[in-house]
Amino acid sequence: MSDFGRPPDSPDFEPSIPADPFGAPAGRAAVLCGVGGWVPPRVVTNEELASRLDTTDEWITTRTGIQRRHAVEPGQATSDLAVEAGRRALRSAGGPAPDTVLLATTTPDRPCPATAPLIATRLGLREAAAFDVSAVCTGLIYALATAAGLIATGVSRRVLVIGADVYSSIVDPDDRTNAIIFGDGAGAVVLRAGNPDEPGALDHFDLGSDGASEELIMVAAGGSRQWAESRPPTRGEQHFAMRGKEVYRHAVTRIAASARATLAAAGWKPGDVDYFVPHQANVRILHSVADDLGIERSRCASHLVDVGNTGAASIPLALAHAHTEGALKPGHRVVLTGFGGGLTWGSCVLRWPDIGQGEDPR
Ligand code: UT7
Repeated sequence: MSDFGRPPDSPDFEPSIPADPFGAPAGRAAVLCGVGGWVPPRVVTNEELASRLDTTDEWITTRTGIQRRHAVEPGQATSDLAVEAGRRALRSAGGPAPDTVLLATTTPDRPCPATAPLIATRLGLREAAAFDVSAVCTGLIYALATAAGLIATGVSRRVLVIGADVYSSIVDPDDRTNAIIFGDGAGAVVLRAGNPDEPGALDHFDLGSDGASEELIMVAAGGSRQWAESRPPTRGEQHFAMRGKEVYRHAVTRIAASARATLAAAGWKPGDVDYFVPHQANVRILHSVADDLGIERSRCASHLVDVGNTGAASIPLALAHAHTEGALKPGHRVVLTGFGGGLTWGSCVLRWPDIGQGEDPR
């Protein structure tokens, strides 16, 4: 008889899966050993947006901190950005080819199939396990946690984790609230099997969600819910919609709480943190969270000034940028925290490894 449907606390419950199904050696950690990022060359400045939308450079800069973002050219899709970022991360890591590719994205090339297998093939990673992870702007943290689990159980030995999004494909270009925030981009890291006490080991994941707030960030059309409602979608339902003010309030609370939980689990005090990389949503959110946690603003990544909110790409892009600029040094204590639609949130920590010089994502 299957164990499905039987509560785990029933007296005759015996899990059908042994506690350690893969015989994984204890202490096998996912260790970051490569990083890379790529943004499409076309820059969209605040002035350019102000020339066609009812907005100003001053409004965008003071309300978001964003000065410019990058946008795809016609013909470029998420996998094109992801392949570039993945290639750079693989170059940075060197060593054997990954056996697994995960793509965190909200804008896959197509609703079906997943985009990760195509990326793996284009990178020459033939027959690698490959799938997409959908957790909106927290996608990268969820994908890292998934990769860490695959490595810990011995299913995977080396994983390429990519966060890539082309928000241009879902944001209404005439929506002044969202068009000014989002940019297109991709970032990637390579994880290998290693020991929990070595630099680069990811640890102390904190993950969470709140589906009661799903309507705060949404593309309403295009899924089975719209099909079930048996009516054609409106123009608005086909585009990305966000209740910005409410999301803002959740973001400051959730990012701080998740980062705090991870710090507590790691036994780190805020003053121990050398580099804090929250999801790059809005510089006011970043500063407010840093202040709340007691982390100096100068230690908080703010790559969004140049690239905007790049969704699932924002954390690895910020890492690639900071690594190239020399802001991240071997041994630095780093906290990663994501927040996004779902709602979802998540954090983890690592000590920055010695992975040599990176390439500028631009
Ligand atoms: O990545 C997923 C997570 N996302 C986030 O964390 C985003 C969180 N939210 C935000 O970053 C901010 O809420 C926004 C940047 C989206 C908006 O900033 P805000 O300070 O919350 O502005 P608001 O929505 O309260 O709007 C204030 C005013 C409104 O006008 P009224 O009603 O006061 O007359 C808006 O219509 O600003 C207006 N407005 C604009 N004005 C000029 C909205 N967008 C613009 C614009 N230019 N682009």
